[in-house]
Amino acid sequence: MKNAQQVAVALTENATNSKGRRLDPQRLIDFTDGKLDREALEALAGQSILHPRQFDRRTVVAIAQFAARLETRVVEFDKPLDGKIAITAFFEASTRTRLSFESAMMRLDGKVLSVPDGQVTGIAKGETLADIGEMFNTYGDVVIMRHPDTNCLDEIQKNLQRPLINAGNGSGHHPTQALIDWYALLKWRPELCSPDCPPDRRIHLGIIGTPGSMRAVKSFFRLSLMFTGAVSKITLVSEMADPVGLDLTGPMEESPIPIEITNDVQDVISQLDVVYVNSIAFLGDSYRNLDGRYKLEMASGMKPEAVVLHPLARNDELSEDLDETQHNLYFAQAAGAVFIRQAVLVSVLQRLDRIKDL
Ligand code: CP
Repeated sequence: MKNAQQVAVALTENATNSKGRRLDPQRLIDFTDGKLDREALEALAGQSILHPRQFDRRTVVAIAQFAARLETRVVEFDKPLDGKIAITAFFEASTRTRLSFESAMMRLDGKVLSVPDGQVTGIAKGETLADIGEMFNTYGDVVIMRHPDTNCLDEIQKNLQRPLINAGNGSGHHPTQALIDWYALLKWRPELCSPDCPPDRRIHLGIIGTPGSMRAVKSFFRLSLMFTGAVSKITLVSEMADPVGLDLTGPMEESPIPIEITNDVQDVISQLDVVYVNSIAFLGDSYRNLDGRYKLEMASGMKPEAVVLHPLARNDELSEDLDETQHNLYFAQAAGAVFIRQAVLVSVLQRLDRIKDL
């Protein structure tokens, strides 16, 4: 009979999404013959993670492969984040990002100082982010911050000397979410790691949303532009004529990946291998949901083998009638978050040496 500790470990190892596709991280490890690009991970030591442009394809794949090892537990480790403290400073609501970062720290024996709501800080009394950054220098070893103001990163970094991980800055970016999105895709189809992906395994990617004002969509789009030879085409589906925004215009024009923009999802839905959908656009200090005509559901006419990604939370744009189907990659996507965030934290906090057999 198992004792309580063994049962707890077994539950952790088996934990995955309850509905939709389940992804086997071992397939991603096997694809590269078990080799890990340690040099790419070491380059993250002490770095802030603010924008997806900091990554290249090599780094994205290296982080995903490290996450896969953590997920399968093929590597052994003993308290890799022991003695480290992460400050999760969330000045805006979150379910997944804050809690998966905190879970990532705690499962590797790190500790967390959690700010679940900015109103419990001196912000309620008029304190500036710059002053809060000064305080954080002595309270923790890494700061993970979400804030509704796109300029918040510059503000806190006026005094902060610890690595800062951007967990969503207004309509700016959400770089670790994009790593999670690509982790799901690389586990689903490991051949996408390679710039020589066989033509019949390349993906036509559809993005329903407005990258210019949706940070998760923007970061995913930015990272996707790096996967030449794996992404055969990107179709942006948006109610806006110019949904991209200044931040991405240059990278989009420089990318060899063909990109088209349409406002009619029905025109393209049957051609897409991957559909990325999000709803919430940030408009200054308010939110706006996607136009109701972009609702994705069983009757939308997707290819039978097409998969759907969504950073969540969802609203009406993603029907629950997809949850029990093989189109549902979004729950597996969310389930991978802890492992990607563990890979990032271990690399940034310079504890790779505590993971055996890397
Ligand atoms: N994906 C994501 O950012 O979710 P939360 O808003 O719940 O953190």
